[in-house]
Amino acid sequence: MKNIAVFASGSGSNAENIARYFSNSDNVRVALILSNNSKAGVHERMKKLGIPSLTFSGAEFAEGSAILSKLKEYAIDLIVLAGYMNKITTPILQAYPGRIINIHPALLPKFGGKGMYGMHVHEAVVAEGEKESGITIHYVNENYDEGAPIFQATCPVLPDDNAEMVANKVHALEYEHFPRVIKEVLNTIS
Ligand code: GAR
Repeated sequence: MKNIAVFASGSGSNAENIARYFSNSDNVRVALILSNNSKAGVHERMKKLGIPSLTFSGAEFAEGSAILSKLKEYAIDLIVLAGYMNKITTPILQAYPGRIINIHPALLPKFGGKGMYGMHVHEAVVAEGEKESGITIHYVNENYDEGAPIFQATCPVLPDDNAEMVANKVHALEYEHFPRVIKEVLNTIS
C-alpha cells in the first residue's frame, strides 16, 4: 500500500477529489490530511470520508519534528499539496526529496510566487488580459512555485470572464487531472 498525505489550508475540494479517486484502490490511499488551519473546510470533508485530518501551527510546520513523526506514523510515501498556502520548510523537504508535489492554479512560471494563491491568481490573470490559464503540477523545492514541472493543462480565458469564472474552469482541470498525475508520480516511487 502506498500512502499519500495531503496538505490543505482551505476548502479541500481537491483533497476530497483525490481521496475519492483512490478510495477503491487496493494499493494507494489518502491516509492523512495535515492543515495549518483548524477552521478549514477540508476537516469537515474528511470527517465524512473517515480520513484523519490534523491541524498544526505554522511554527510546528517550520520546525518539522511533530509533522515528520506523524508522516512516519502513517508510513507516508508522497506528500501532495492541494491548496496548502505555506512554504514547505527544510526538514520536510529533506525527509521527502522528490516526494512532494504541488498544484498551482495557473500556467507557471507566470502568476506564481509569494502572494499568488487561490483567487488572487485568477484576479491577476483577468487583470492582465490573459487569453488562457490552467494548472501546473510540479515538484516542490524551497521556493514558492519553482520546482520542476510535471504536467500542465490549459483552459481559455474569454474577454468577459471574471476571476470566479476562471477559477471554475481551473478547478475543473484540477479535478480531471490531479489524481491521475499523482498516480503516475507514485509509479515512479519505489
Ligand atoms: C486550488 O485551486 C489550488 O490550485 C490552489 O488553491 C485552490 C484550493 O482549492 N492552490 C494555490 O493557490 C497554491 N499556490 P481547494 O481547497 O478547494 O482544493
